[in-house]
Amino acid sequence: MVIKIKNICCIGAGYVGGPTMAVFASKCPDLVVNVVDINEKRISDWNDKDLSNLPVYEPGLSYLIEKCRNKNLFFSNDVKNCIAKADMIFISVNTPTKKTGFGSGQALDLRWIEECSREIAKYSAGSTIVVEKSTLPVKTASKIKEILNSSLKDRSLEEKLNTEKEFFILSNPEFLAEGSAINDLENPDRVLIGGENKEAVDALSKIYLNWVPSKKILKTNIWSSELSKLVSNAFLAQRVSSINATSAICEKTGADIKEVSLAIGLDRRIGGKFLNSGPGFGGSCFKKDILSLVYLSNFYGLSHVANYWEQVIKLNEWQQSRITQQILESLFGTISGKKLAILGFAFKANTNDTRESPAINICKYLIEEGSILNIYDPKVKKSQIQKDLNFEKFEHTHNILEAVQDVDGIVILTDWEEFKSLNYCELYNSMRKPSWLFDCRGVINKKLAIEAGFKVWVVGNGT
Ligand code: UDX
Ligand code: UDX
Repeated sequence: MVIKIKNICCIGAGYVGGPTMAVFASKCPDLVVNVVDINEKRISDWNDKDLSNLPVYEPGLSYLIEKCRNKNLFFSNDVKNCIAKADMIFISVNTPTKKTGFGSGQALDLRWIEECSREIAKYSAGSTIVVEKSTLPVKTASKIKEILNSSLKDRSLEEKLNTEKEFFILSNPEFLAEGSAINDLENPDRVLIGGENKEAVDALSKIYLNWVPSKKILKTNIWSSELSKLVSNAFLAQRVSSINATSAICEKTGADIKEVSLAIGLDRRIGGKFLNSGPGFGGSCFKKDILSLVYLSNFYGLSHVANYWEQVIKLNEWQQSRITQQILESLFGTISGKKLAILGFAFKANTNDTRESPAINICKYLIEEGSILNIYDPKVKKSQIQKDLNFEKFEHTHNILEAVQDVDGIVILTDWEEFKSLNYCELYNSMRKPSWLFDCRGVINKKLAIEAGFKVWVVGNGT
């Protein structure tokens, strides 16, 4: 049997759902793609005529939205009808770490997944393929299946006669990185599809074949697919913690992290990517997914495995605290009443996302020590920074020059392109003396900064 997909619904119009469905719509003009969300503001932002108001900033995204929106890509709050019309439904809702109760602090909170499964069970008509896009704990598919199938038993005879409901569950984890999401979606390293039902797997695979070569489509069992997503993120995060651990040794010994990264990355077995030291990894996935892996390992009595992965997070937290200690020590042991310019608040360049951004902890710590912060980020809104800093006082500035007026030090926290070519003399002349430049991303030209008069500290390279 060949399952033909004409109408897709994606539940969750976030950083994953929005860009993913924009690429689906653009690559498959014959498909109707509905993206639904319970959040009305989010949907109205996706439908805003002014493309600068889209809720997600991603290079290339606004072009796709303009091309497909209201042609074969629709954003709405009409969850019920969009589910009813769909042959295939993607679940792309958030799965945060549980804050309370059993497994709190580690396990993922699956309440939204359960909620979506119940909605799908209620409103879907006929055969429906349900695809897990959200990162989920291994074995979640069986829970979704249970919820969906239990709904079939509850139906009245009349309903059963009217429609022949049937569900197939697939895992199709997302590997896009924010800031390069569109490119990652259009040119993926691989597409992973896990599932038991061959026809359903083939139906999803057929959609991807519109732009992804078949050799890049990997079909696995559902548990392998779910686990691969968690472990991919854990491996990537582990590289960041490994290089950050090395950065601390570099600063003590006089080695230079850039040279060390280059030297180790040239070994083809290691590879050169993900070897930039910085203020630690942020983003919605790495910490959450490692915690989920830790929880899973402990659940199966594998405490050695759990402790191994937990260390990746501990090192990440330590990197943030040692950077703030460094700033404090450099400014004569006190920053009370001193002004600092924070350049960059997003967790990485080319995104307006601040979830788990290292800037949050570092800024909170600096504020706690009495520092007055001028924060500048090219894409993050003031209201978002206010929320992240629990409405503590700070100055929101609109450009680099405004941020550095009369400050004692500049702290670079995000690797935005514009921070790579600073006008050091101009900045130095606007600041209090002595003027410090703390480069937590290794993006500045240290020699030029020193020549301009700055006292400089660079992560993995020191003063
Ligand atoms: C989310 C998960 O956090 C991640 O683990 C997964 O891999 C992909 O989905 P993201 O898209 O970045 O990532 O989350 P977010 O931007 O918070 O978007 C989720 C959206 O789902 C929100 O807009 C929320 O309103 C919506 N949602 C949530 C629903 O529409 N229905 C619900 O029941 C719950
Ligand atoms: C990650 C995964 O890369 C992606 O495959 C998955 O689907 C979601 O999680 P994302 O969090 O968007 O993507 O960004 P990523 O580029 O992986 O960066 C994560 C964090 O690590 C950022 O804070 C980044 O600045 C940091 N990082 C990355 C480093 O500090 N050094 C590096 O060399 C690379």
